[in-house]
Amino acid sequence: MPRIAYVNGRYTRHAEAGVHIEDRGYQFADGVYEVCLVLNGVFWDEEGHLARLDRSLNELAIEKPMTTRAMRLVMETLVRKNRLKDALVYMQITRGVAPRNHPFPDGAPNPSIVITAKRFDFSKSEELAKKGAKVITAPDIRWGRVDIKSISLLPNVLAKEAAKRAGAQEAWLVRDGFITEGGSSNAWIVTRQGEIVTHPLGNDILGGITRQTVLKCAEELQMKVVERPFTKEEALKAAEAFFTSATTLVMPVVSIDGEQVGDGAPGSVARRLRDAYIAKGQSAAVAAPEAANENRLL
Ligand code: PDD
Repeated sequence: MPRIAYVNGRYTRHAEAGVHIEDRGYQFADGVYEVCLVLNGVFWDEEGHLARLDRSLNELAIEKPMTTRAMRLVMETLVRKNRLKDALVYMQITRGVAPRNHPFPDGAPNPSIVITAKRFDFSKSEELAKKGAKVITAPDIRWGRVDIKSISLLPNVLAKEAAKRAGAQEAWLVRDGFITEGGSSNAWIVTRQGEIVTHPLGNDILGGITRQTVLKCAEELQMKVVERPFTKEEALKAAEAFFTSATTLVMPVVSIDGEQVGDGAPGSVARRLRDAYIAKGQSAAVAAPEAANENRLL
């Protein structure tokens, strides 16, 4: 069965899907994206991801090519067409095709939209969560508006490649001595006093949708959370560390730059938060059976 993608109004074979060579996403990284997790046919935090997509588009004055309702339908159709149960749905909207010239093109906006769905290996994610992830640190050389989920990701690409070469799964980015976030996730520690710490929202981190839900989980579990920057030294002295994203859920960290964090094993707070996050998606599906049925594709 061929893999199917959605490109500018058409469902097409993934292998043959393409956009024009003068798409501004291709030439200028003039576009935004979202990644949404699907577990057991249920979209996790879909509303949050679609709301952040609207925000990113607004910040960059890129026209939205279709309604949120229509996008949801395409996302769900793609998961079904690709016969997926656990999946990652990728959405990308760019300012569209125009002769290469830096300012926005004249005339009516003509944004490009691409949506794809690929299999997500939940058991592999669980395997890593049981073992714990390794992170390295790298300088945060990104621009001043990383709160916008832009497709301009070269610094993230370089940091994550450095992590891969070091045998690590994530790079924690350091600016002015503080860890801002990961190359594709938000960074957290748990102090020896049991306080959960993560960088506050602002222009220097992406406001993770998983971060937002994990904050709610922590509150429900009556865990104390403080949103403030922390350093690598503090992380190395912490009881636990972890990172969060749609693709990793809650992922415990066992080392930073080769130095052990806590007792070198995944921590209990990270495990509880991961379980709570997974349960929250499942209970949302149970608590709202109609919405869940709408979302449940298999
Ligand atoms: N990345 N910070 C950065 C820089 C990210 O790229 C991401 C997500 C996050 C976490 O956001 P969320 O919880 O909404 O997934 C934080 C996606 C998964 C990616 O680029 O593949």
